[in-house]
Amino acid sequence: DLTPLIEAHVRDIPDHPRPGVVFKDITPLLAAPEAFSAVVEGLTAGHGPGTVDAVVGLEARGFILGAPVALRLGAGFVPIRKAGKLPARTLGESYDLEYGSATVEMHADAIAPGSRVLIVDDVLATGGTGRAAVRLVQRAGGTVVGFSVLMELAFLSGRDKLSDVKLHALTTV
Ligand code: PRP
Ligand code: MG
Repeated sequence: DLTPLIEAHVRDIPDHPRPGVVFKDITPLLAAPEAFSAVVEGLTAGHGPGTVDAVVGLEARGFILGAPVALRLGAGFVPIRKAGKLPARTLGESYDLEYGSATVEMHADAIAPGSRVLIVDDVLATGGTGRAAVRLVQRAGGTVVGFSVLMELAFLSGRDKLSDVKLHALTTV
């Protein structure tokens, strides 16, 4: 159980980025190599080397966590980014926010059809970002074999949007 380690290394920042939001700051965890390493191992979610073709990381903290997971699994790393950042041809998915909407993109050729894909991010909140990522992978012809997050915010019910994928949260708050 990584909950005590995560609680010790992730700090709450009240009212960031807006009043009323408690931001989960993972930078102390990233700065502690043994904790970082344990979390990377946990995010592999029992998938062994050679069983995953690509790890998809969600901008921005999913890049930091997902890249070492990819190397550990002997898989490629694929970024999903906020709209307008990726240079080549992209697939895009939009999702609703509390006010307005957001769009994330993936390179159209990033996932070979039939690929087994593990998606990694830091926090699962409402699940909007995660659902968009699953759609992008599926539209590219990939199979989502798992969705790993460091932390699930259960009170926002993001899990309900991902009921068709194998969700693995290292800790739930
Ligand atoms: C945060 C977090 C997740 C997402 C979860 O990212 O890192 O990616 O929100 O929220 P959801 O489940 O409600 O979609 P954010 O969009 O703030 O961007 P960042 O990671 O680039 O800071
Ligand atoms: Mg994010």
